[in-house]
Amino acid sequence: MTPCAALLLPVALLLLAHSCVAVAQLEIGYYSRTCHNVEAIVREEMEKIISAAPSLAGPLLRLHFHDCFVRGCDASVLLNSTKSSLAEMDADPNKSLRGFSSVDRVKAKIEAACPNTVSCADVLTIMARDAVVLAKGPFWPVALGRRDGRVSSATEAANELPPSFGDVPLLTKIFASKGLNLKDLVVLSGAHTLGTAHCPSFANRLYNFSSAYTADPSLDSEYAKNLKMRCKSVDDKSMLSEMDPGSYKTFDTSYYRHVSKRRGLFQSDAALLTDASTRGYVQRIATGKFDDEFFRDFSESMIKMGNFGVLTGAEGEIRKKCYIVN
Ligand code: HEM
Repeated sequence: MTPCAALLLPVALLLLAHSCVAVAQLEIGYYSRTCHNVEAIVREEMEKIISAAPSLAGPLLRLHFHDCFVRGCDASVLLNSTKSSLAEMDADPNKSLRGFSSVDRVKAKIEAACPNTVSCADVLTIMARDAVVLAKGPFWPVALGRRDGRVSSATEAANELPPSFGDVPLLTKIFASKGLNLKDLVVLSGAHTLGTAHCPSFANRLYNFSSAYTADPSLDSEYAKNLKMRCKSVDDKSMLSEMDPGSYKTFDTSYYRHVSKRRGLFQSDAALLTDASTRGYVQRIATGKFDDEFFRDFSESMIKMGNFGVLTGAEGEIRKKCYIVN
């Protein structure tokens, strides 16, 4: 990056974060008078969490994404089911979510310093940003002031989260319903540079794919062979596979190199290469010459996603504990 671009990047991101203020009423420094060191407290805890378990960076980033896609970023994904209603976290696509106890731990620290002040939705948003930073990815400013929702529905989660078999038209439609465009789709899919997946998320690509093909023809055959060794059947839940093999704990651009070599793990990843509308971006970032561009794009798209459908002002509440409404 040129020195000039390096200077302009944080300014541009700040403007972007601020530009959403008018819409969402979120603010950089929202807690400056009520809990001025909230971000420092989260960072300190996140450093401990990630140094003890680096593989938690992916799950914490994914928690924020699954929160924002259902009822906006209102921490509804963190609520436990009750006797009368099954919560988001118990929906099928959410059964593989991890990191809830880390959020509780960070929230407890924040409550000790600033009781009844900082929402779980804000805590999770900062944690997701810090997870990326601590995995060697980009930093972006997080505008704060989200409030916590009081409703969490498993049915909504099952209906609104994108499925792993999605193609670009379907994923574009789902992303558009969350205020995100085609570019956000190809950029945010880059989050699959971090983390692991269970067989049922992709094993349909290995066995009985269609009447014409046993395995998905868009999947590299050598790679398919390796995956089959880890994944003995469609519902084998015992093994995890790295989504960005070789660097699944590091936030980098190698995800796009895998996708460009037909080694994207999910159909939704592979679709980014087969579809002409997203292929160019995948191939450009895969060259390794535009890492700064991807980092900047990812930051911008995360700010957009993190501002989607938030509750502000007198809406919702500030939960004391993230897993239960007050
Ligand atoms: C484009 C649509 C997307 C689809 C269809 C999708 C689907 C999935 C699936 C099926 C898994 C694996 C679950 C498992 O088997 O354990 C997964 C993991 C993951 N996803 Fe996505 N995802 C999408 C977009 C995103 C976005 C936008 C983000 C974040 C910004 C994200 C972050 C992650 C991370 C970090 C993991 C790894 C979690 C772990 O290590 O436990 N994904 N995704």
